[in-house]
Amino acid sequence: MRTILQPLAVLALLSLPASAQELRGHGGPVRAIAVSPDGLSAMTGSFDQSAILWSLSGGAAQAVLRFHEGAVNAVVAVPGLGFATGAEDGRIALWRGEAAVPVRIVEGHKGPVAALAVSADGRRIASASWDETVRVTALGDGGARLLEGHKGPVNGVAFLPGGGLVSAGYDATLRIWPAEGGTERVVTLPAALNGVVVAPDGEIAVAAADGRLRLFSPEGEARAEIVVGETPLIALALSADGTTLAAGGLRGQVALIDRKARAVRATLVGPGLPVWSLAFLPDGRQLLSGGADRLVRRWNAVTGEHIGTVVPRAGADVLAAFNGERGAQVFRACAACHTLTPSDGNRAGPTLHGIFGRRIASAPGYAYSEAFKAMDIVWTKETVAKLFEVGPNAYTPGTKMPEQTIGSAEDRQALVDWLEKVTR
Ligand code: HEC
Repeated sequence: MRTILQPLAVLALLSLPASAQELRGHGGPVRAIAVSPDGLSAMTGSFDQSAILWSLSGGAAQAVLRFHEGAVNAVVAVPGLGFATGAEDGRIALWRGEAAVPVRIVEGHKGPVAALAVSADGRRIASASWDETVRVTALGDGGARLLEGHKGPVNGVAFLPGGGLVSAGYDATLRIWPAEGGTERVVTLPAALNGVVVAPDGEIAVAAADGRLRLFSPEGEARAEIVVGETPLIALALSADGTTLAAGGLRGQVALIDRKARAVRATLVGPGLPVWSLAFLPDGRQLLSGGADRLVRRWNAVTGEHIGTVVPRAGADVLAAFNGERGAQVFRACAACHTLTPSDGNRAGPTLHGIFGRRIASAPGYAYSEAFKAMDIVWTKETVAKLFEVGPNAYTPGTKMPEQTIGSAEDRQALVDWLEKVTR
């Protein structure tokens, strides 16, 4: 019997070491991550149906992108453009900069998109779907190619150096599709497959439900098998130089694997496990992980150590001054998007300075959603507490604030009491 597994998408690319920090903002597990080739930004996708664009230097959310109707399962960097997201709604959205609407939407899949990959020349995007197909779409002019053959959900796809593709599916097959078209080579494995990446030299690495990572030649000849754990591998990433693989399993084991040595070099030890998604920064020395705790964390990709737990700058000073207060603790989940003083201004969310007694959607200079602008709410301690009791989606339907709730009534009270003090 195979365990039912979620797919995974990770084409990790490359970047600049920045200060250590967690990225906070999602209201659900972080399902996918990709880093821009210059290492300055990252995009994450979540079960909360949003994608967030992050500045990696400041740790701030730059844009919360609500477009997909369903979990955002896959994110990939698109050179020269920005990022692409693929979701449960079967759609692929292309995003440029911080623009809140996609520059292009690709439709066609009849089931959830589980993984995305971009060709080396940046001109084609491949998508793996639970509709049992892979699609290759030209990003400029040109048509789409439909690859049919898998007998179940397709969980992973990657381009091969010569322009061909490899896909991995729940049907336990790895399929190698020639660049020029024609029938694929089928390699059958002992377990369902959850992800695939291709190194610059063409070697294929595939993550399986039996906890093993397997390596193949570009033609599909088996080369090596590395045991990561006993539970299904659900996250997979490769460093830009192709030397290091990161594989994460359902039980929380995340291994850093030396590809040449065919051996586990280090195991991540720290908070935030298990992870749903992994991506290396461009220099290969740091790894980002996205997990069930909704955070994006940084790790040393050489030693496996967790790096720092510094909250983003805007909140840092304020929070330090209230060290130990419960309300300040609760606000840590908000600090990525909201500042508290007029001088710190608006971030992904409006400043909360003067929030109590303020009408909804009235902070100067902030681009609120249409939904927010149409609502008639005055923010008081009661209405803000209510907002996080029932969650923004229920209280302010159509909002671009990511879904999140604060389960404990005490925490909600502590938060609003503290906010009253610091937002005056
Ligand atoms: C990932 C970013 C993000 C996080 C995290 C976040 N918010 Fe927001 N928040 C937003 C956005 C975006 C808006 C504007 C919503 C709109 O225009 O639809 C907003 C709006 C608000 C508003 C209404 C402001 C107004 O001017 O009408 C309040 C109050 C608020 N947030 C409080 C919080 C609190 C408290 C937390 C933490 C528990 C939090 N937010 C976490 C992004 C975020």
